Amino acid sequence: MTNYIPEQGRPWDDIREEMQGMRGRDLDWRHGRHGAYVWYAGDDLEDVLREAYGMFLVENGLGIRVFPSIQRMEAEVLATAADLLSAPEGSAGIFTSGGTESIFLAIYAAREWARATLPDIAVPEFVAPHSAHPALNKAAHLLGMTVTRVPVGPDFRADPAALEAAISPSTIGIYCSAPTYSLGLVDPVPAISEVAAARGLWLHVDACVGGILAPSVRELGYAVPPFDFANAGVTSISADLHKSGFLAKPASTVTFRTAGHHAYARYRFDDWPSGLYQGFNFTGSRPGGPIAAAWAGQQFLGREGYRRLAASSMRTKEALITSLGEIPGFRLHGQSDLWSFAFALDGVAAPALAGAMFKRGWVTGVTTSPAGIHVMPTPVHEPFSDEYVHAIRECAAEVQAGSAPEAAPARYN
Ligand SMILES: Cc1ncc(COP(=O)(O)O)c(C=O)c1O
Repeated sequence: MTNYIPEQGRPWDDIREEMQGMRGRDLDWRHGRHGAYVWYAGDDLEDVLREAYGMFLVENGLGIRVFPSIQRMEAEVLATAADLLSAPEGSAGIFTSGGTESIFLAIYAAREWARATLPDIAVPEFVAPHSAHPALNKAAHLLGMTVTRVPVGPDFRADPAALEAAISPSTIGIYCSAPTYSLGLVDPVPAISEVAAARGLWLHVDACVGGILAPSVRELGYAVPPFDFANAGVTSISADLHKSGFLAKPASTVTFRTAGHHAYARYRFDDWPSGLYQGFNFTGSRPGGPIAAAWAGQQFLGREGYRRLAASSMRTKEALITSLGEIPGFRLHGQSDLWSFAFALDGVAAPALAGAMFKRGWVTGVTTSPAGIHVMPTPVHEPFSDEYVHAIRECAAEVQAGSAPEAAPARYN
C-alpha cells in the first residue's frame, strides 16, 4: 500500500494550492448547481462559521464537564431548537452529528422506552409513510427493529388512517416528516399525533430539513402546517442545524418532549478499567467545532437573518414554480409547504431529464413515486433560478428529440 505522508512535511502554501486544485471537478454549489448536500448562506456567515469552528477545533465535547464553554454553547443551541419547536418546559435535547444520528437516537430511545414499558414486544416496529427518509430504516436495522412503510395518501402526504391500520401488536412508534425530503410536504402531524396518543405510541417527527427554518417561514406569514410539540402526541423531533439552520456540518438536534424520554437515549457502561463511560450520542469524541460554529452562526444571523434566509428560499421556490409552470406539461407533485418541491414534465422522463442536466453541471435529484425532479431552493440558488429553468427547458427539448445523453439513475448519493 502507498503511504501518502511525505517523509518531510510540506509548506502549507503548497498543500493549500494542491487542495484548491483538487476542487476543480467538484460540484459548483456557489453557482447553485446543486439540489442536495450543501446549504450555504453567504461568505460573511461562512467566515464566522470557519473562525468559530477553528477556535474550538481541538476541544472535545465528550469531556463536556471540563469545557464549560462548549457546555454553554451546546445548551443554548439546544434550548433555541426546543423553543423553535414549541417544546414544553422540561423537554431535553441532544446535539448530534446530523439527521441520521438524531433519528438514530430517537429510535434508540423509543426502543429503550418500549423495553421498559412494553416488555412483551420482542422485535419492536415503527410504522411510517413510504416517504420517510432511509435514516429510519438504517436506525431500525442497527437496533434490531423493523419498519413497516405504508403508502402515502392521494396528496402524497402520510395517510393517518393507513398508518393506524398498519399498527400491529409489535408497533412501538410512528414516524412522519416535516417536510419529506423527496416532495417537500409536511405530513399531517395533528392527525397522526392523535393516533399516536390514543394508541400510547412514540411519535417521531423528522424535521431534519425544515425544523430550524420553518418557524421563520411562518413568521413571514406563510401558512406552514403545524408539526411541532404543540401536537400533544409528538414525543421527539429531529431538526438539523447543518441544513436549514445554515450552520457548519456536522450538526443537528434531537429534542424529546420530557427529560424522561431523553433519558432513554443515554448509554452507560462501567465494566472496563477506566470507570463510568456515559453519554447520549452514538459517537464518542464530539468535535467542539460544530457546536461553537452553530452558536456563533446563530448569534451572527439573529432572528432577522433567519427571516431573510427564509424569505429568499421561499421567493426562489415561487419564482421557480412560476417559470417552470410555463413549460408545457408541468405538474407540481403535491402542494409544497416550505421551500423544496418536486415536479414532472408530462412526456419527459425524469431520469433522462436529470441525466441531461447533469451533463450541463446541474446535479438534479430524481423522485420515483411519483416520478419527477427534486428541487431544494436555498438562498445561493436565487440568482441562478432563470438559468436553471432555461437549462430544464433545453434539456426537456433534448429528451423529447431523443438526443439526450444517458439517463440519471434515481439515487440520492
Ligand atoms: C428528511 C430527512 N431526514 C433525515 C436526513 C438525514 O440527514 P443527514 O444526511 O444529515 O444524516 C435527511 C437528509 O437529507 C433528510 O432529508
